[in-house]
Amino acid sequence: MNSNARRGANARFIGIDAVVYGVEDMDLCHRFFDDWGLRTLKRDNDEIVFETRQGPQVILRNVTTQAFPFPPPAPGPPLREVVWGVASEHDLGLVGEQLSKSRKTTLSSDGTVHAVDPYGYGVGFRVWRHGPVASTHNMDPASTRTNFVGARQRISEPAIHYARAEPTRIGHVVFEISGPEALREGEQFYLDCLNFSVSDRYGDRGLFCRCAEESDHHNIALLTTRHQRTQFEHVAFEVRDVHEVFGGGVHFAEHGWDTAVGPGRHKVSSAYFWYFANPCGGQVEYFSDTDFLDATWKPRTLPPTPDSIAEWALFEGVKRFKGFRKAE
Ligand SMILES: [Fe+2]
Repeated sequence: MNSNARRGANARFIGIDAVVYGVEDMDLCHRFFDDWGLRTLKRDNDEIVFETRQGPQVILRNVTTQAFPFPPPAPGPPLREVVWGVASEHDLGLVGEQLSKSRKTTLSSDGTVHAVDPYGYGVGFRVWRHGPVASTHNMDPASTRTNFVGARQRISEPAIHYARAEPTRIGHVVFEISGPEALREGEQFYLDCLNFSVSDRYGDRGLFCRCAEESDHHNIALLTTRHQRTQFEHVAFEVRDVHEVFGGGVHFAEHGWDTAVGPGRHKVSSAYFWYFANPCGGQVEYFSDTDFLDATWKPRTLPPTPDSIAEWALFEGVKRFKGFRKAE
């Protein structure tokens, strides 16, 4: 059994296997995710499929040529579906059984079970085909060795520098929600129906939860913002280490894409981050060094204040170093 999988009677979830966008400008959105560091698996006029290093995918479907099983949530960014990976066909059956008690489900020819979440976004489930999330899958060992006080791990070996990012996996998605009622709807779906685990709460204004007890601090978060609307906010890609957050972000910004916020460091989850505006909808995030939780974690109730969200952040990115003197 995979060490990241939930044990017990409930379905064992592994992580996010795909996010699907409905887009109009396929060329622009291809360039965006190509610069972001994803590998193009398939590209035609109807659909573009990108792959992270571990295998989870970003899928762009052309809204002018493709039919979707469910109408789009409106208004808001055109994210159409988040697909979750489960440990086995048996687990997929358990999820399908549980979902069908409260909502319509469909099965597509690739074996994915589809439903709609409380906010109108598609939510899919299929058997995980990739390695364990927390493994050192395809890692460059130099990226993991650090020289801290009392722990010199990298001897006579320079540290790694990244010319660009190559995201390893999809870590989490975040939705803005309109308030306490929307949060309750989300809890009924993600906690009661899918049996995700609570990681932390912002009282009745937000929830961070993970799809398995042993998982990143959050695989999905539902957060009330000042906009008091319910819509997709961002998808986050894990990169190998903090150096890939910075090196990848510098490269991406140099290709003309706009920083939303970052780099910075979250307080909740502890991860280093860099967010960019996404022409396909919402934002994307590079992150690294998130808290990883297991069954011993005690959920906290945190104040929904800026200082509990992040310790520090820059708002216009950082630039490649060109010398100690500021350019005239
Ligand atoms: Fe995030």
